Amino acid sequence: MPARDIIIDTDPGQDDAAAILLALASPEDINVLGITAVAGNVPLPLTQKNARSVCEFAGKVDVRVFAGCDAPMTRALVTAEHVHGKTGLDGPTLPDPKMPLQEKHGVDFIIETLRERPSGTVTLCPLGPLSNIATALTRAPDIAARIQEIVLMGGAYFEVGNITPAAEFNIYVDPEAADVVFKSGIKITVMPLDVTHKVLVTPERIKALRAVQTPVCDAMADMIDFFERFDTDKYGSSGAPLHDPCVTAYLIKPELFTGRHINVEIETRSELTLGMTVADWWGVTDRAPNAMFMGDVDAKGFFDLLTERLARL
Ligand code: RIB
Ligand code: CA
Repeated sequence: MPARDIIIDTDPGQDDAAAILLALASPEDINVLGITAVAGNVPLPLTQKNARSVCEFAGKVDVRVFAGCDAPMTRALVTAEHVHGKTGLDGPTLPDPKMPLQEKHGVDFIIETLRERPSGTVTLCPLGPLSNIATALTRAPDIAARIQEIVLMGGAYFEVGNITPAAEFNIYVDPEAADVVFKSGIKITVMPLDVTHKVLVTPERIKALRAVQTPVCDAMADMIDFFERFDTDKYGSSGAPLHDPCVTAYLIKPELFTGRHINVEIETRSELTLGMTVADWWGVTDRAPNAMFMGDVDAKGFFDLLTERLARL
């Protein structure tokens, strides 16, 4: 099976860093055409810098990183420094990147890449708010039919919200963008909190990562140590949920995940439930299925894969 051509759209974020590193460590499975940064966990100047820092730290200085949207489509930006720290990558101190930021806007890169590459051969992997993806689809509706699949981290059903009682952060920050994506007719696979809250970085798993004894695995462990304090305090869980690498792990080993092809719609009007992914898990409506919504994951298989691949860098 040839490696899959993907664009990673991201708001690093320690867990975004894990997703990017897993992709870069897996050239036999994934070919990263480029990385587009979006405002989310922290503002865009930091997310684009963090994306470059992560690539450079992994020795992948040829990866093209683009800056995309610095705000949601219509709303003010909401960030998550309380989770990820002031820099967005608190934990280790990564050197400032020397690799350049690409001149082109991230949305233009997405549109041009989809128009230039053979139709149906490029997968979009959003790990943050969907502002770049929805802006590209709105400016260039022709690209929708050319996208192989969108595999995204976002939303929640049984796990309900993490930024509000009803909404998961990525969807909440730009619900109008999420609405565009989920109504696009594109093949969508969703990694919601329902699976990401099952891949908790327990002390044993952190130990296995540190046992690799490489700068990348040490830095990843330091990032997780920082990032996990928020979730363990809030949920009393045994470790941090590694949200975003569920997306890249799915591209490598889809069999790790199970879910249902169901209808998912986005709340964009109610202030109380804004950004909620209204997932018809039990099929109680006649609304047409539009997304593969994941519900379970083989957590041991996930961490074995993540540790084995990151050890390569
Ligand atoms: O709700 C979790 C998501 O929000 C993850 O993508 C995390 O990086 C933050 O962006
Ligand atoms: Ca993210």
